Amino acid sequence: MTEPSRRLPARVIVATHNPGKLREIRELLAPHGVEAVGAAALGLAEPEETGDTFEANAALKAEAAARAAGEPALADDSGICVEALGGAPGIYSARWSGGSRDFAGAMARVERELLAAGAPRPWRAHFVSVLALAWPDGPTEIFPGRVDGDLVFPPRGTAGFGYDPIFRPDGHARTFGEMTSEEKHGIPADGSLALSHRARAFQIFARERLQAAPSPALTRSSGSPED
Ligand code: IMP
Repeated sequence: MTEPSRRLPARVIVATHNPGKLREIRELLAPHGVEAVGAAALGLAEPEETGDTFEANAALKAEAAARAAGEPALADDSGICVEALGGAPGIYSARWSGGSRDFAGAMARVERELLAAGAPRPWRAHFVSVLALAWPDGPTEIFPGRVDGDLVFPPRGTAGFGYDPIFRPDGHARTFGEMTSEEKHGIPADGSLALSHRARAFQIFARERLQAAPSPALTRSSGSPED
């Protein structure tokens, strides 16, 4: 077991070759003064995702990077689970886009399969993100996050990545593809629940493993009584 007070150093390897995910994780770490270095920038190989759960795949990616770099590594394994498709594509979400990362094709496949199954609307789905933090000297810690919503076709919006344009989170009229990155994965300063699955996993991770984010009062350049 890692002692609860164990904190991340000033930089952490982010074990992903997906630029969209790296960008989101970098934005999440930056306010905590932690630099995110992508695995691709370090020339680290991308291990094959041989696990059959999000947890197993997140852990194997983080552990491979931590071992290769000799530094703590953070990995996210995530995907979208469509309830009427028995949770598919789930851990195969990236693979449904084919080698060329064609998410227009992957979203069209989701719609085709829902129509073929005669699934009644609303088409419920959830995004899952499991963050794994691997320390080079062990152990690996797991932080899960989830957001529920329904699917809309045709896809809407051009923001974000992957399946964002078809996912409308509960309580919102717009899809993730129509939201700014701040709306999708911003961490509310008042401690309330973030929106995206990755931001929710990150909130748990940050609470346990990062210094508190600096408050706006402390980051103002002047005029604050704390200065
Ligand atoms: P992996 O975790 O690298 O295996 O890939 C997860 C895949 O799930 C991504 O390539 C996307 O297709 C999808 N995915 C995960 N998180 C998101 C998200 O926040 N928005 C849209 N698609 C996502």
